Amino acid sequence: VARIMGAVRQPTPDVVAHRGASAHRAEHTHGAYELALEQGADALECDIRVSRDGRLVCVHDRRIDRTSSGRGVVSELTVASMSEVDFGGWHQEPPVSADELVRRPAATPEHGVLTLDELLGLVRDHSRPVRLFIETKHPVRYGGLVEHKLVALLARHGLAAPTDPESSPVLMMSFSQSAVRRFREAAPGVPTVLLFDRFRSSWRSGVLPPWADLAGPDIRLLREDPGLVARVAALGRDTYCWTVDDPADVELCRRAGVRFVATNSPASTRFHLAES
Ligand code: G3P
Ligand code: CA
Repeated sequence: VARIMGAVRQPTPDVVAHRGASAHRAEHTHGAYELALEQGADALECDIRVSRDGRLVCVHDRRIDRTSSGRGVVSELTVASMSEVDFGGWHQEPPVSADELVRRPAATPEHGVLTLDELLGLVRDHSRPVRLFIETKHPVRYGGLVEHKLVALLARHGLAAPTDPESSPVLMMSFSQSAVRRFREAAPGVPTVLLFDRFRSSWRSGVLPPWADLAGPDIRLLREDPGLVARVAALGRDTYCWTVDDPADVELCRRAGVRFVATNSPASTRFHLAES
């Protein structure tokens, strides 16, 4: 498979809002993504899972307990049931007990679960071009269902076969090599990112597989080995690095030539990039 994105030299990295502006708003909510866009993020990042009724929802964990007023496993809950719980309140006021979790008020539409369909709409309707980095979670457990549904949804939005991959509004990411490879076969024009860290190190510094367009290291790997970015560039590829909140890490990424930095705080990361 031909490389479809790569090694574009630019003075500063693009800022990707990790789960939205999640340092200031509850992650994966409309509010978090709208704030990220207000803060000038170049791109957004989200995690996706499949609900019981086969929809793609933007939830990081296997369960909704940490990020909502409800409880349960995403794959065992319908979108309707996840729309009745509050995904917006926990960030500002963490619940103090399990009892309080179930007594929290019902969600407003703003605070119910965010579907990927809605997030794609937000990106499409924004006044300036914005990219969306979509990370599939638990691709192995569900045997490719997430990637299959993702390709189908992107096709409905006219995003599964971009004419110019370099300007594709969406990119697919995973820690799972099989997930990235499977997605590439189904949607060859959409750029892919192979994520890795010290524990989920499906790839480190060898030859990036042909079906992965960008390397996606944890910032902690870059702190130990900033030369990784140059080695990736020598392969003609770019680097997407996460999660880059500390000003020293922002500077490290800029100096190393990282193309995309994922941050929980787009405004401060943009500020530090402008200062450096
Ligand atoms: O952007 C990649 C990064 O989000 C991967 O880790 O656990 O935050 O999804 P995680
Ligand atoms: Ca993620």
